[in-house]
Amino acid sequence: MTLFEGHSLLGQLNQLVDWSQPTLWQAAACIVFNPLFWNFAARSEYRHGVITKLAGGSAYFGCYILAVTIFGLGIFRDAVYHLALEHQPKAEWLNYGEVKIVAAVLWAVGTVLVVSSMYRLGITGTYLGDYFGILMDEMVTGFPFNVTGNPMYYGSFLAFVSVALWQESVAGLLLSALVLVAYLIALRFEEPFTASIYAKRDKAQ
Ligand SMILES: *[C@@H]1O[C@H](CO)[C@@H](O)[C@H](O)[C@H]1NC(C)=O
Repeated sequence: MTLFEGHSLLGQLNQLVDWSQPTLWQAAACIVFNPLFWNFAARSEYRHGVITKLAGGSAYFGCYILAVTIFGLGIFRDAVYHLALEHQPKAEWLNYGEVKIVAAVLWAVGTVLVVSSMYRLGITGTYLGDYFGILMDEMVTGFPFNVTGNPMYYGSFLAFVSVALWQESVAGLLLSALVLVAYLIALRFEEPFTASIYAKRDKAQ
């Protein structure tokens, strides 16, 4: 399949990305689906207590169920992403030792951001506990939250980029860009929502 035929720059892209591989589109679908799913699930919980009901009335148990589900979906998405890159051509201009070093550094930075923010927030803080009425006592401001407001998302994005570079994959870079777009859209919904939940709590105190 050749999208964008006839234009030289886009023609080059066709050499670097094999659009006919189903795994490419499966990875794209997972990348878009995951944030949609957790936003939908969290809002259903907030409005109707759907997950708490499923969990027999325990908000904590419900949040843990959501956490395991989101975590599992993330592992599945990562596996499909890795598989997709195996089916893609490699870009010669990424076949350099320096690129591997950059990839390793980005992977380390991304992992530190994700792991340290999980450590700071705990399970319920990481996995949308605020939608269950499980609020943090106060805003977390220490590392990594003094580096970026959304270390989990940017850390995850960096991990995707690092894998793409390591695999010398232009398709991987495109999928990484899709990850960033999906997260930025998710944040546009999550940030005001979280802010309003905490504002309500503070008003009630
Ligand atoms: C963030 O906080 C850590 C300590 O928790 C500190 O070492 C680091 O320099 C801070 N970073 C910024 C950018 O302020």
